[in-house]
Amino acid sequence: MDQTSLLWLFVSSLLFCTTNQACLTVSPSRSQLFKGEFVSLSCEEDDSSAGWKLRRNTTRETRKECGDGWGKSAGSSCKISYIHTMDSGVYWCESREGATSNSINITVTGGSVILQSPVLPVMEGDDVTLHCQTKTSNLPADFYKDGSLIRTEPAGHMTIHHVSKSDEGLYKCHSSSHGESPSSWISVTGKPTTTAPPPASEAPPPVSEAPTPGHEAPPQLVFRLVCHLVVFCPYFISTLLMVSLYRHRPTGNDPPVSMVITQPTRGEQGLDDDYDNIIPSVTTEYHF
Ligand SMILES: *[C@@H]1O[C@H](CO)[C@@H](O)[C@H](O)[C@H]1NC(C)=O
Ligand SMILES: *[C@@H]1O[C@H](CO)[C@@H](O)[C@H](O)[C@H]1NC(C)=O
Repeated sequence: MDQTSLLWLFVSSLLFCTTNQACLTVSPSRSQLFKGEFVSLSCEEDDSSAGWKLRRNTTRETRKECGDGWGKSAGSSCKISYIHTMDSGVYWCESREGATSNSINITVTGGSVILQSPVLPVMEGDDVTLHCQTKTSNLPADFYKDGSLIRTEPAGHMTIHHVSKSDEGLYKCHSSSHGESPSSWISVTGKPTTTAPPPASEAPPPVSEAPTPGHEAPPQLVFRLVCHLVVFCPYFISTLLMVSLYRHRPTGNDPPVSMVITQPTRGEQGLDDDYDNIIPSVTTEYHF
């Protein structure tokens, strides 16, 4: 997978995430992993005081929190330094009040082949590319959906154009040299109607040769990015303003006379540190 497609995946998962209260992302961004890989899961949230924690269901246990027998918890993220096949399961973030994020199915294989498929649901109408791969390269492979052969791809990847609800299902791939991948469920969600303007033209997008797992057409993407920037900029600017106001607070307004009066009563050392404390005490002295 080249850098552009990785960027597309990243941007689309960001967009997916900003529409949710909290969003679970996984790195590497795959739902199938090789045994022994390092995996990092994080809850991207707006409100860190809500105490979002990772939880999972596996075949052995349910609702187990990160750090309680699995993973290493750090704030609202969780790291697994060596993932095992028994770590396969469904993962999600849950707040202290019981609110939940999206959930992600993770399958860990002890074999040498995985199907690389989208971790997050695919938007209706987008293109999705599946890769059949080893740790190092794509494999010529047969692709299956719900147990039936759908395509044979010598290059090791297949693209489904304009995904619809009927493409939802359980996918896997099989390589004659390396064997079969686990199966992964691909889910398709309807396009949100309020967040994007209607497409500028009705012409179908050009079919490209390169794998294009981008989940959204560029004009809509730019529109949504701008929306999110507009939402976040006031936060950012007011934070900067508050920080700079705070930094300037001690200088300027304090009457110089208080310095003159207090100097003899205080030691030379630590004067600067006590500066803030001195002024209120002097003011109260004046009131008596
Ligand atoms: C985890 O397991 C519990 C108990 O079986 C179930 O109620 C819950 O829906 C599961 N969570 C997910 C995200 O599958
Ligand atoms: C996880 O997999 C099960 C079937 O294997 C499927 O029903 C479910 O929708 C999947 N969940 C997600 C979040 O993809």
